[in-house]
Order: sequence, then C-alpha cells, then structure tokens
Amino acid sequence: MTDKRFHLAWFLNFTPDEWRDPFGQGGQPWDGQFYMDLARTLERACFDFVLFEDKLMVSEIYRGSAEGCLRGGVIAPKHDPVPLAVAVGTATTHLGIVATMSTLGYPPYLLARAASTIDSLTKGRFAWNIVTSAEELAARNFGMDALPPRDLRYEMAEEYMQVVNKLFDSWAPDAVVLDRENGIYADHTKVKPIDHDGTYFKVRGPLNTVRSPQGRPVYVQAGSSPTGRSFGAKHADVILSPASGIDDMREFRADIRTRAAKLGRDPDSIKVIFAITPVLADTEAEARAKERRMVESDGYIDDMLASISAITDIDFSQFAIDEPLPHRLVTNGEQGTLDRFQEYGSGKTLRQLAEAGLASALDLTGTPDQVAERMGDVMDAVGGDGFFVCQPFLRSSRRYVMEITEGLVPALQKRGLMRTGYAGSTFRDNLLEF
Ligand SMILES: Cc1cc2nc3c(=O)[nH]c(=O)nc-3n(C[C@H](O)[C@H](O)[C@H](O)COP(=O)(O)O)c2cc1C
Repeated sequence: MTDKRFHLAWFLNFTPDEWRDPFGQGGQPWDGQFYMDLARTLERACFDFVLFEDKLMVSEIYRGSAEGCLRGGVIAPKHDPVPLAVAVGTATTHLGIVATMSTLGYPPYLLARAASTIDSLTKGRFAWNIVTSAEELAARNFGMDALPPRDLRYEMAEEYMQVVNKLFDSWAPDAVVLDRENGIYADHTKVKPIDHDGTYFKVRGPLNTVRSPQGRPVYVQAGSSPTGRSFGAKHADVILSPASGIDDMREFRADIRTRAAKLGRDPDSIKVIFAITPVLADTEAEARAKERRMVESDGYIDDMLASISAITDIDFSQFAIDEPLPHRLVTNGEQGTLDRFQEYGSGKTLRQLAEAGLASALDLTGTPDQVAERMGDVMDAVGGDGFFVCQPFLRSSRRYVMEITEGLVPALQKRGLMRTGYAGSTFRDNLLEF
C-alpha cells in the first residue's frame, strides 16, 4: 500500500491570542503557558512541528502610524520566539519546534550558538526559520538607514549560511570523549577553528557549544523570488509557501525540486508545505456562515489591511477599498505574500482581497470530513509534501486549535493522510520518515 501521509505543521507567533473572541484567552500570553498548552495539544494530535514566525519592529506602514498594528494587536506586540521555543521544548517530547531568527539581527556566531544550545535542550527537535528580514523599520533597529535590496540580502545570507554551517561542524561528532580514567572531557584536536574571512563576515570559531543531537538544526525557509527559491533549494529542509492555487503550488514544488537536484541534493530531502486556514463546523452551511461572520466582524478588514501593510511595507490605506488595485504592486519585502494577496488580474476589489485574506486560495471550508477529503485531493494533485495551518492574523485561539486537532486531524488520520505517532526521536528523523 502506498504511503499517502503528508506533513502537518502549525504556524503562529508570540503575539496576543485571539483576545476579542468570546472564547479568547484575554490577550496576555506573555508567560508562555498558553503556547506551551497549545504545543502539547498539537503534539497529542501528532503535528510535525510548531513554527513561531517573527518580526523585529513595530510597523508604522498602515496609515503611516503604529496605531494600525498596536490598536488591534496585529503584528505587534510580538515577543521573542527563541526563549519561547525553549519553554515549548520543555513542555513537549516529540513535536518539532521552529523559531524564526533573522540574519539581519543575529551575528552568525550568536545564532549558531543559541540554535545549538536549544537543539541540545530539546534533544534534537529544534529548527531555525531562516529569514533575512524584509522591512525598512526592522533594518533601522540594527544600525542601517535602509533595508538592503533583496538580492544583497540573499547574497549576505548565503555567506551567513557558509559561516553557520562551518560553525556547526567545528565540533567533530566524536569530539566529546568523556574519558573519566584519563580525565579527558573533549578531544581538543577534534574541535577546530573555522577561520572564516569573507566579504561580510569574519569569524574565527570554533563554537563553544558541543555538537547538538541533530548536528545542526533543521533549516526552514520561505522565499519565493527566483533568488529565494535557489537559496531554499540549496539550504532548506522545509520550505513554506503561500498556497496560491493548485497549479501554482505544483509549479512551485516542482521548481524547488528541480533546483535542488541540479545542486546535487535529493529532492525528497526537502519538504515543501503550503499555508492553509481551514474553517470547520458541523455542516458546510454552518462553516460558510462562520466564515462570513468572521470577515464581517468589526475591525476585520482594517486589521487585515494593517497586517498585509506591515508584511509588505506598502500602505494599503492609500487604495480605494471597493475598487481593484490600480496596478501590480511590487515590494522589496515579501513579494510572494504580496502576490498571493493581490491576485493580480483577478479583478477583485481590495475589500474582496482582504476578505479572502492571506493564507490560502484553496476552499477549505466545511465539515472536518469534507476538508480532510479536499486536502487529500490537493496533495494528490500537487505531489506533496504537506500543509501548515495559520489563523487569521496569526492570532491563536484554543477553540480553533481544538477544532483542528479534535475534528480535522482524526478525519485525516482515518484516511491515512496523517501520522498517528512519531517514529523518530529527532525532528529531522520525523521529517524524513515520509
Ligand atoms: C509563509 C511565510 C512565512 C514567513 N515568515 C517570516 C518570518 O517569520 N519573519 C520574516 O522576517 N520573514 C518571514 N517571511 C519572509 C521570507 O523569509 C522572505 O524574506 C520573503 O518571502 C522575501 O523573500 P522572497 O523575495 O524570496 O520571497 C515569511 C514568508 C512566508 C511566505
């Protein structure tokens, strides 16, 4: 029998939970307990991993003011996902944990050291979401006057990867000998400086952390420009993509696999997964009504536009809400996300685009069985490798998590589409299981 299983992940960020919802948690998740609970629930449901997205600024793009984000708690406030990853790691035993860390903000040595430490703390379940940061205001928090252009960001990130890979390998797998009789903890001949002296970085090494269970963390990436795709095909174990329709998804995955094969990598070692926001209820009519209620709720359109403005560095308040966008928009920021949102050529008005939101062009509204069936069909058509669940504005609610874990997951498992246990002990083992 063929293995039809695909990977399932959860995408969120360390921001206020769904605080306006009657079933919300009150908007104060800062002690991390809410996210630790959520991670335990995802682990019980056999999710592959949880990913904490991150940004490094309070956006002032929407209407030229921080009000657009802070008023609704959209994109900001946002706490640091790295310490949260540790807390979530101690609350779980099998779930993969991904923290976003920006090459713009972290010097490579500090990033490699933190990632190695967390991989040890979680016994080999840590992953790094590699981002270069794509917002002007983020760059200005790190001594720059402007965000470097995309190609330069990737060029710097390419050298950054050389440095961290060398650092992760600066301890040979057998460097720690723990020889009690002769009093030798580590064999110093197996811990080597890296002496990197490049265009952007100069790092002597070695790391002062022992080699972690996975050697290096799992690498996650989400670029969609040609340069971003090549970068992902070269370095990533997991690639995140907005789901912009079956044809685009198939093309994207095939392109990544072709690029990877040309670089000498086994395409099956890269998992391309797509964003979804299923809306579930007891009947399809109820699910559709629920979706309508959500998009018609107070502040939804405004929050969505504030959110997409912050992500793309384009102020969407400048466009007429009931007209199509005047032309195809381009950004030095997240072009792929922008393209998914603007659906250029569709003729939809900005309000219709905002209603459709960011996550998915797939119709995943219905009963758990209907949605599970559709997800299986989509995977069949695309070829793999799975999905990641996002909530609108990435604000989490226990109720939504329960609908997915108690409704959708059993429906997927029943069809043989999702794992029912963890065969491996590390994140990478579980990723490569199928
Ligand atoms: C699903 C998804 C998740 C992303 N997560 C983050 C993130 O957490 N932090 C960040 O700064 N950028 C994030 N990005 C932006 C990408 O890392 C990348 O900078 C952006 O897509 C621009 O690269 P590109 O021009 O190659 O598409 C994300 C993008 C996508 C599509």
